[in-house]
Amino acid sequence: MAISNLLTFTNSLLLVILAILCSNGFPNLFKPQSNQTNIVIYVHDYFTGEDASAIAVGGRKGSESNVLEFGTLIVVDDPVTEGPRIESREIGRAQGMYINSQSDGKGLYMVFSVIFTGGEFRGSSLEIQGSDLFTLKEREFGVVSGTGFFRFVKGFGIMQTENMDLVHLRAVIKLNITVKHY
Ligand SMILES: *[C@@H]1O[C@H](CO)[C@@H](O)[C@H](O)[C@H]1NC(C)=O
Ligand SMILES: *[C@@H]1O[C@H](CO)[C@@H](O)[C@H](O)[C@H]1NC(C)=O
Repeated sequence: MAISNLLTFTNSLLLVILAILCSNGFPNLFKPQSNQTNIVIYVHDYFTGEDASAIAVGGRKGSESNVLEFGTLIVVDDPVTEGPRIESREIGRAQGMYINSQSDGKGLYMVFSVIFTGGEFRGSSLEIQGSDLFTLKEREFGVVSGTGFFRFVKGFGIMQTENMDLVHLRAVIKLNITVKHY
């Protein structure tokens, strides 16, 4: 009798501890997680205007270099929104760089983080790396890994130019990302 009481008590204690862990410390550790996550986000890459978020820092003409010329290095802190319009909810920033890496000027090499500051993935980030042959309608890139909810992930994304103002160099890019959790 005494032993079975003790067992029940121990079991209850374990359940309480588990409940506390799930509710506070480790939300993702215990949440049954599907193997894949799909996210569609929009990145606003603006070279001009009050809200410019991309600058050239080097290239053939130094910081006066054009993004469409081979060798130009761009640093970005681009707003990331839920929908295609800038007015839609901002859920993060795309921070990093890209370089014009194709001799005819029509290809970029990108390396940046998507840092989620709002929405479902707030506090987590994704690491993006790959080429962007931007004259193509759809470009595939790699998702190397991430942090928080995205620890250990690997995946890919499809990039499409949603909107492009070539005169002012203001672009909205759709990123459709699929990652696998390990
Ligand atoms: C996750 O992937 C593993 C191995 O690929 C598989 O055995 C498992 O059933 C998958 N789980 C879900 C929830 O899809
Ligand atoms: C995102 O890409 C997947 C394929 O990887 C596709 O099935 C899905 O329809 C796409 N979603 C959007 C909103 O474009």
